[in-house]
Amino acid sequence: LLAHFSNMAIKRVGSLDDSLHNGSIPADEGIYGHPEPMIHNSVAKEKILQRRSLQLRQQQQDWKESSEGKKMLEFRRSLPAFKEKDAFLKVVSENQVIVISGETGCGKTTQLPQYILESEIEAGRGALCNIICTQPRRISAISVSERVAAEHGEKLGESVGYKVRLEGMRGRDTRLLFCTTGVLLRRLLVDRSLKGVTHVIVDEIHERGMNEDFLLIVLKDLLPRRPDLRLILMSATLNAELFSSYFDGAPTMHIPGFTFPVRAQFLEDILERTGYRLTPYNQIDDYGQEKSWKMQKQAQSFKKRKSQIASAVEDALEVADYKGYSLRTKESMSCWNPDSIGFNLIEHVLCHIVKNERPGAVLVFMTGWDDIHSLKDHLHAHPLLGDQSRVLLLACHGSMSSTEQKLIFENPEGGVRKIVLATNMAETSITINDVVFVVDCGKAKETSYDALNNTPCLLPSWISKAAARQRKGRAGRVQSGECYHLYPKCVYDAFDDYQLPELLRTPLQSLCLQIKSLQLGSISEFLSSALQPPEPLSVQNAVDYLKIIGALDENENLTVLGRKLSMLPVEPKLGKMLILGAIFNCLDPILTVVAGLSVRDPFVVPADKKDLAESAKGHFAAGAYSDHLALVRAYDGWKDAEAQQAGYEYCWRNFLSSQTLRAIDSLRKQFFNLLKDIGLVSNNSETNNKWSNEEHLLRAVICAGLFPGISSVVNKEKSIALKTMEDGPVLLYASSVNGSVPKIPYPWLVFNEKIKVNTVFLRDSTAISDSMLLLFGGNISKGGLDGHLKMLGGYLEFFMKPELAKTYSTLKRELEELIQKK
Ligand code: CDP
Ligand code: MG
Repeated sequence: LLAHFSNMAIKRVGSLDDSLHNGSIPADEGIYGHPEPMIHNSVAKEKILQRRSLQLRQQQQDWKESSEGKKMLEFRRSLPAFKEKDAFLKVVSENQVIVISGETGCGKTTQLPQYILESEIEAGRGALCNIICTQPRRISAISVSERVAAEHGEKLGESVGYKVRLEGMRGRDTRLLFCTTGVLLRRLLVDRSLKGVTHVIVDEIHERGMNEDFLLIVLKDLLPRRPDLRLILMSATLNAELFSSYFDGAPTMHIPGFTFPVRAQFLEDILERTGYRLTPYNQIDDYGQEKSWKMQKQAQSFKKRKSQIASAVEDALEVADYKGYSLRTKESMSCWNPDSIGFNLIEHVLCHIVKNERPGAVLVFMTGWDDIHSLKDHLHAHPLLGDQSRVLLLACHGSMSSTEQKLIFENPEGGVRKIVLATNMAETSITINDVVFVVDCGKAKETSYDALNNTPCLLPSWISKAAARQRKGRAGRVQSGECYHLYPKCVYDAFDDYQLPELLRTPLQSLCLQIKSLQLGSISEFLSSALQPPEPLSVQNAVDYLKIIGALDENENLTVLGRKLSMLPVEPKLGKMLILGAIFNCLDPILTVVAGLSVRDPFVVPADKKDLAESAKGHFAAGAYSDHLALVRAYDGWKDAEAQQAGYEYCWRNFLSSQTLRAIDSLRKQFFNLLKDIGLVSNNSETNNKWSNEEHLLRAVICAGLFPGISSVVNKEKSIALKTMEDGPVLLYASSVNGSVPKIPYPWLVFNEKIKVNTVFLRDSTAISDSMLLLFGGNISKGGLDGHLKMLGGYLEFFMKPELAKTYSTLKRELEELIQKK
């Protein structure tokens, strides 16, 4: 097997090298950008462009005079942005960079790019302009482009189009393109000066996502080289000064908005009205005491994790004293749990609105997809809120389908109350017009990153004051509204003014790869020119990681692997797994593993059937000691069952979510296409899967991806002791199949994720052998064997396995001999 591996690997890596040296960046513009703009020098081409521009002008004129066009225009004129149209166009023509702020719904996203397009068309330059407007989310890029195309009186994909990862609607004549920030970044990868682009509009910059901050550094660097390029930064709630001074005092412009007054109520007010009361600890009964003790524990761990929130919040928490009060209804006991959002409280508020308040849609801000779905299930079971003749419950998040999306904007008939459960994407990027009531849980899921432990965590955190104001404002679109903030006023007072930028709270690995593939020089130097530069330690960790996995060489240059990874829009570890799955012809199961890690766990654990659910999952993992292989087996079983129309029953029996499995299924296809685009797989499924049944090989490939996420395993009398180099002793999540086995007959576990609560917990893991670790852990590329040994040496020493170092030397020699021979 080993001989086969090395043989295959070398052949494939060789072909990677070839494709690199031929400079063959895949031609598929489907991923890498945008069709080449029509800029040509020849006179004939010039004429075509002129003619096209005239046509566009005529078309625009006709539309504006049509009855439908007039109606549309009337609506557009009613938006606050319209009053600023001329001033806006003037500032754009006179300045290279401008910063625009304006209330959500005032028409920034749909109108401003359109004003530019229209004025260019009007000036007879329609066929020459090329406007790109970025959105932080796929779904907003799509929905906004649909809206703008309709306002412009065209079908989507003509003058107005969109492009998001793996999907798009635009043509040769598309002049205004809405895309995700990631798409523009990938275009910059192959076209560093944005040839032919006339305007770049970066929307929602207040979100300060990593991609947006990164894009700003690149654009800032590009502007002097492209004096004709215009950059427009837009957002609802932004710290305009910060952006303006970053771009050397660029002018700022504010669009005064219209919103109706919204009455804000904080927890203390809500409690009065919804039948809850705050009970000080010393007055609660036995059951309450047990809960209060739990709450104290939770509050402590919660406090520890809140390092990134100013200590003012901590003080406020003491004042508000989530620890000092228990939340209970008059009838039943129910706790305010700082880790969850208190479904019962939300349920209570919603009932109150449905029963007592005037008509109007309700928008509930939750932390994420999973919360939304569990709340939805919870509410479905409620006699009033689950009654479909009275309430329409909808979910709104980044991965909803387009049918779901349409329902959100529609008005239900027959006095049915629309309740939309949304993530923070409904804060600024989409506008649901009929919202009158907002329920704000006060939290959003954000990745935070602890540079000292090199541990990423995805946890609900308190939002900023800016976000809370924004949420509140959503209730005042069409009439005055009400906002229920489910936290005390003193907690609000202690929120940060703005959210910490993602660049400062997440690992930087993918970003570092992008910097290298864009040839932007030294990583640390580049990042030090960010709006708010990340800590040098975080940068160092990311660079070290990339060296360890073999994406960068000792001198911080991209390796062949690194270049391929930078072309895959997934985390480096997942990218590496995909690439190796392709190289080692075990593609199908690896696609499943990677898709599973990107979506979420399809195994569901209902609280009341925990044992049954765990044993169902354990059944899939029999003998595998791997959550990842359990997933592969479960998925394969589901596919077989689906083929016999028994998929649903299969999921039910095995505690699987068919929705998640379907999401995994679709993502697998997308990953396959990505690999095909960069020339790593053939269409021949048999070849791609020649070794797919070799579970040893699958373990090895999983190890290659997840290394250095590795823990040693020591089987004790009654338990298993695990330890990682960075954290010392660690524990497994109960949901891991390895969490419930009496022994693990392998010396190591590789894991995808560790989460720090009080102790460090490993989420899903796969058991691997010494040789898998030796051959696949870290940098396995041709030139890196010495570095590999050195790096692994540190691990082996730490885990006191010097004998492995010896084995390693032998293996290494054998491998080198093989390489020589081939
Ligand atoms: O970007 P900003 O929040 O300033 O506003 P916008 O997204 O441009 O939306 C301006 C107006 O267009 C909103 O008030 C919506 O009523 C309307 N709109 C719509 O009807 N359908 C859409 N898909 C998007 C916006
Ligand atoms: Mg907008």
